[in-house]
Amino acid sequence: MLNLNNLDMISDKALQKIKQDFEAYVADFSSPEKAFQQNIEVKKKHSREVMKNTEHLARALHLPENDARLACVIGILHDIGRFEQFRKYHTFSDKKSENHALLSVKVIERDQLLNNLDANEQELVKKAIACHNMKEIPKDLTERERLFCNLIRDADKLDIWRVVTDYYCQMEKEPNNALQLDLPDTKGYSKVNLQDIMQERIVDLQNLQNLNDFKLLQVGWIYDLNFKESLGILKERGYMKILLDTLPEDEELMKMKTKVNQYLNQS
Ligand SMILES: [Fe+2]
Repeated sequence: MLNLNNLDMISDKALQKIKQDFEAYVADFSSPEKAFQQNIEVKKKHSREVMKNTEHLARALHLPENDARLACVIGILHDIGRFEQFRKYHTFSDKKSENHALLSVKVIERDQLLNNLDANEQELVKKAIACHNMKEIPKDLTERERLFCNLIRDADKLDIWRVVTDYYCQMEKEPNNALQLDLPDTKGYSKVNLQDIMQERIVDLQNLQNLNDFKLLQVGWIYDLNFKESLGILKERGYMKILLDTLPEDEELMKMKTKVNQYLNQS
């Protein structure tokens, strides 16, 4: 049947092929070195889970089938640069290495992972991936670009909350510098980050001095979710309670925790 509204431009077969290519690509990074392999596994699982989140959100938003598939492509490939980043620099800190989102786009282009999509869709996927880790998305995006950027940004944060809350619960047994961006687990935190949260602003990545600051950044992401469905998933999965419980309990932080809980319950 002739399709006039471009609703079925990515076939399920094309999506499956991209998933297979992703698995083949990451299989090449397998290493007998335990710590290295653990970090590869974390990012492999993260990519798969983000893809599930993008699909979940696409369905919740009643997007057409084609768009749900596109969202899955963005989800599975958004962090594909992480593997090279870790192999080359042994860190997930972009500050200490390079921007992993742009590296993902480079890998996608070099390995021609989007060959089965048409040119417009390739550009859309790359744009969403390039923007997924920006503090703010560019103002000049088209409505469609904005939709997919917003989708991947929420889906990514939802899974990072899973990864970090799992980690914080067992980090004493198995500390992993890469997962805490090489930040020291020292006492205290930067007041500027706390102020950001109290003012309902997201925390600036530039202001991270220690692990508590990184946790505050992750708390502040609640203000950066784009869909009420994402907030619903966050509440359902209980990540915020776990995260808040890992922070110290001084008076100001207690006020912050109350504020965050109120925000979540009102939304
Ligand atoms: Fe990322």
